[in-house]
Amino acid sequence: MSTKILCFAGSLRKDSFNKKLCHAAAQKAASLGASITEIDLADYPLPIYDGDLEKASGMPENARKLKAMFAEHQGFIIASPEYNAGITAVLKNTLDWLSRPDDSEHKPFQDKWVALLAASPGALGGIRALPNVRFILEGLGCIVIPDQLALNKAHEAFDASGELVSEQQQQRLEKVVRRLLHFSAR
Ligand SMILES: Cc1cc2nc3c(=O)[nH]c(=O)nc-3n(C[C@H](O)[C@H](O)[C@H](O)COP(=O)(O)O)c2cc1C
Repeated sequence: MSTKILCFAGSLRKDSFNKKLCHAAAQKAASLGASITEIDLADYPLPIYDGDLEKASGMPENARKLKAMFAEHQGFIIASPEYNAGITAVLKNTLDWLSRPDDSEHKPFQDKWVALLAASPGALGGIRALPNVRFILEGLGCIVIPDQLALNKAHEAFDASGELVSEQQQQRLEKVVRRLLHFSAR
């Protein structure tokens, strides 16, 4: 049975560079035999985590759906923008909600293999966010692989069909995806 990989970006923006990079990685993973689920966090809006809201109404329906989805995959490809050298609010808020107990048995993070990507128009490609995202995910029980890709000048990096223009960047992305599939198939 092929490895199930969930792919998403930590951006809500329609034309998000991180969504594009995530999609390129998802296509590569599919071409290498993985079973891919691509989701857009914009389709799962969540209120900002608030303990009082949780106490009054429990876990929001979208968080329950995401939690079940996370639990049924062996690995994740996450493309995270860098906001002020760290994780985006939407990604952190999603992880916060999913980390909460509910009446399900779902374990959304434990022993999940994760490959991290970042894309930014800036010179550093969002690489400063990744240790932050890695730290949070590892704290939740994920195993984040050492291989990662931070794509700089992201506004120039894709052609009209969403392919990475640079052969070198394509190869770097493929290496990350291959490593994730290697580990998550174990
Ligand atoms: C609040 C905010 C903070 C940002 N901080 C950084 C930063 O620290 N480093 C960086 O490279 N880009 C930063 N950017 C620019 C983002 O990299 C850029 O908006 C990028 O397109 C966001 O990713 P997306 O295209 O996937 O939505 C910031 C953008 C916003 C809105």
